[in-house]
Amino acid sequence: MQQKMIRVWDPLVRIFHWSLVASFFVAYLTEDDWMTVHVWAGYLIGGLVAIRILWGFVGPRYARFSDFVRPPGEAIAYLKDELAGRARRYLGHNPVGGAMVVALLLSLSLTISSGLIVYGAGECSGPLANTLCGSGGWLAEAGEETHEFFANFTLFLVVLHVAGVVLTSLLHQENLVRSMIDGRKRSAVG
Ligand code: HEM
Repeated sequence: MQQKMIRVWDPLVRIFHWSLVASFFVAYLTEDDWMTVHVWAGYLIGGLVAIRILWGFVGPRYARFSDFVRPPGEAIAYLKDELAGRARRYLGHNPVGGAMVVALLLSLSLTISSGLIVYGAGECSGPLANTLCGSGGWLAEAGEETHEFFANFTLFLVVLHVAGVVLTSLLHQENLVRSMIDGRKRSAVG
């Protein structure tokens, strides 16, 4: 039977996603030797995350937080069903995917904020330079620890995120990565 395809991910969500993937890996891989590239990739991530959070309130149905942020109990129940191979299919993010989106956006925000603190307090550069320059080495050091922790924590979340995408694609016999490229999914739910 020919399945009807419908548009689920709008262009902003798709451009956001693949720009985020590219800028996250550039930022992650350049932190030691390419500080200028690292900082600009970080600014880009900050801008993308800010736009996506705004879009979560004003964007179309499947982009909205109200469509995919569910109570923790629902996410845990969904995870159990998913691991047992009987989770129901969602057109937008499922409850675990929704929790992961929030976790990723939060972890990225904390990585970016602590990066701005390190840059301002430690290097007297960036948008916080005037406020933080000369505030003492302790702030730069605390910022550094926090920045490193959340960058690595984000990477850990990304590994889980990609594993979730693969598992859900197999379970429902659909290619979720392709949907994040062309925006389309088959309409039948179940
Ligand atoms: C090559 C690696 C990646 C692949 C294949 C991938 C794939 C996907 C797919 C298929 C979705 C949609 C999930 C669904 O259908 O519910 C998604 C959503 C998402 N991914 Fe990834 N992803 C990757 C890497 C990343 C990275 C590195 C980040 C962040 C650092 C990230 C952050 C997100 C976010 C925030 C969403 C939600 C999109 C939105 O609603 O705006 N992904 N990803």
